[in-house]
Amino acid sequence: MTQIFAHRGYSTLFAENTMGAFIEAEKVGADGLELDVQLTKDGEIVVIHDEKVDRTTTGKGFVKDFLFSEIRKLNANKEGLKKEQIPSLIEVLEWLQSNQLICNIELKNGLIPYEGMEEKVIRLVRRYGLSERIIISSFNHYSIVYSYRIAPEIETAPLFIEGIYMPWIYSQSIRAKGIHPKHSAMSDAVLVETMENGIAVRPYTVNKDEDMQRLFKINCTAIITDDPVKALRIRKQIQNKS
Ligand code: G3P
Ligand code: CA
Repeated sequence: MTQIFAHRGYSTLFAENTMGAFIEAEKVGADGLELDVQLTKDGEIVVIHDEKVDRTTTGKGFVKDFLFSEIRKLNANKEGLKKEQIPSLIEVLEWLQSNQLICNIELKNGLIPYEGMEEKVIRLVRRYGLSERIIISSFNHYSIVYSYRIAPEIETAPLFIEGIYMPWIYSQSIRAKGIHPKHSAMSDAVLVETMENGIAVRPYTVNKDEDMQRLFKINCTAIITDDPVKALRIRKQIQNKS
């Protein structure tokens, strides 16, 4: 059965990459989460999509220029009523102890090559005993290869914006057990052949009914969506029909 991963948490209804969005995703029955990580000035792994805090919080500036204590003062739910802090990765991993969710950690080190990010993330994943439930993804494929080298027990998955030829060959060559393509980047035939070659396929960001239906029908490994509730409903309809 195709798993449903909540992209930045249940982000259609709750502020992206906040504990509120993660907790609600778990409550509604998502199988997993996707979240993004950056690094503060004092080396704390924090959960936020952009290199800058401007779009999603009440602050301004680069994450890398904030101390953790300073970044925690910002509100990551500026449209909502309840204040949300930017979570630390530690906070999320602690909370994951209370449930069975799979967690896809996307290393946002494509624009800023955060020194030591892979080691820090992996140290925390190991400390919390979550290696089996974590998938490390990134658009930075050098970082994916490095993560595998230092932690072969943790699944890795390169992200793709464009299609590539025979992605399973590429994945095998970098020892990645999965690929995370943009949902429109690769044809169904390529996705199916990738899975037939033993590679998990989790397209992003799948929000339209027809795309969800198509990917459930080919029994895709997972979809990454902003709307886990819609995805759960459509998955159930398809299951009932078959
Ligand atoms: O991990 C899938 C997806 O989140 C990658 O793109 O920009 O939403 O982080 P983005
Ligand atoms: Ca992401």
